[in-house]
Amino acid sequence: MNQREQWASRIGLILAMAGNAIGLGNFLRFPVQAAENGGGAFMIPYFISFIILGIPLMWVEWGIGRYGGTRGHGTAPGIFDALWKNRLAKYIGILGIFLPLVILIYYTYICSWTLAFSFSSLLNLYPTPDVTPGVSSPKEYLAPYQGYLYNYIGATTDGPIMRPEPVAYLFFFITLGISFWVLSKGISGGIERLSKFAIPLLFVMAAVLFVRVVTLESPVDPEMGAIRAFSFLWEPDLSGLLSPKVWLAAAGQIFFTLSLGIGAILTYASYVKKDEDIALDGLSTASLNEFAEVVFGSTIAIVSAVIFFGFSGAREVASGGAFKLGFISMPAIFGHMPFGEFFGFLWFLLLFFAGLTSVVALSQPAIAFFEDEFGWSRKRSVTALMVIFILSVPVPMFVKGGLDEMDFWAGTFGLVILALLELIIFMWIFDSERAWEEITRGAHIRVPRVFFYLMKYVTPLFLVVILVAWGYEHLPEVLAKEDGGIWLTRGFLAGLFILHILAIRWAWKRKTG
Ligand code: PHE
Repeated sequence: MNQREQWASRIGLILAMAGNAIGLGNFLRFPVQAAENGGGAFMIPYFISFIILGIPLMWVEWGIGRYGGTRGHGTAPGIFDALWKNRLAKYIGILGIFLPLVILIYYTYICSWTLAFSFSSLLNLYPTPDVTPGVSSPKEYLAPYQGYLYNYIGATTDGPIMRPEPVAYLFFFITLGISFWVLSKGISGGIERLSKFAIPLLFVMAAVLFVRVVTLESPVDPEMGAIRAFSFLWEPDLSGLLSPKVWLAAAGQIFFTLSLGIGAILTYASYVKKDEDIALDGLSTASLNEFAEVVFGSTIAIVSAVIFFGFSGAREVASGGAFKLGFISMPAIFGHMPFGEFFGFLWFLLLFFAGLTSVVALSQPAIAFFEDEFGWSRKRSVTALMVIFILSVPVPMFVKGGLDEMDFWAGTFGLVILALLELIIFMWIFDSERAWEEITRGAHIRVPRVFFYLMKYVTPLFLVVILVAWGYEHLPEVLAKEDGGIWLTRGFLAGLFILHILAIRWAWKRKTG
């Protein structure tokens, strides 16, 4: 067994965890989920999910991760195997490698667009639209920017195959190269150092953009300022409470944004020292993430769209998805303000740093699996991951609808399943009192005992209810989707899953001789 690495400092650990959690999800996915699910109607399920799903699971993953790390395992297969003496446990843990890998495959590609678009903004490469403030519709404002994005990713062709522009490959390989470089330097020498530099910088950039956005003037309606625009999200509306779709979206967003139910927090936590105060560190991670999401993530993209395009225009933009909001609407807004090149550059650079610190977090589970369970060196593990990655990236890159399909199965649905399995294994099969001890050991804050009952009863039950209600109402329609590339993508996911089963069989055969 390799000597397992550790985080070098507490502040480094917290920033790395914050980097893990804060990502494109905060700035692109959150505003779209909120807008698509009714704005104010989304926020109540969202906050309830944060308290009864997000915080308990954050602690559970830190506890599971540290427990596994001290026993030489940094990923779900090995850890579940240690928690539950059952032949099947390691296979149940597959999701803890499969989900981050699937997300990594499309996430890195999107992250590379942000780097490219920061240059497009700085060099002002967008075609200027021919619009008149107050007269032109959002569509007319957005058309050239939409064309720019669609050309870049090659989405303008008919049929199921996309043809990105050559620069898209260039930026993809630059992004991949940077993440390879960071990962090959290891936990404290690579990831921790990156986070200590990128996360503070990210907060500064977000604050600058925040101030710029709330002082925006509307080109259409002089009455429309930031204060009114805020009501888009902050006017409470209880209508979402009865919709399973809104609940799944809220729970899914909480998990995605906090990197929970995926395996990523658990893997980072496996490099934590034995008597670290994980109760406080976990809470700090969650708070930093929510601050970035609810204050910056919601304001920058949504408030600016509302001020610029009005309520219905903003709704229209957001319903076009994260890419429309982040890559089309934002540059269009920046294109109509003084020093817009600079603010556009800042926006995309912010996304790039948010994305990059998550890319390394999504990579680490597979690397840890190779190191811990195959006994491979770090270099070899990182290289193996890169090879798998390059072989897989054609799916989101070329198959129309592939990226969304991967995001749905791994990024909305799969993580609820893994979260549930973690709770069952840790709080029921392992031993809830020992689990609680594991979470609170070394803590300087007193974790309220009510969280014990949440973790044991409420959170798992809640997840089951969401899954059943959603499965009953929406699963058939999801499965019935028939677009060209969907089945190709599903076939790819199934194949990748089978490879995971084989890898685990091989690893355990090798260990038991
Ligand atoms: N939490 C990240 C985001 O909000 C996504 C992510 C998920 C990163 C899982 C790492 C692991 O973008």
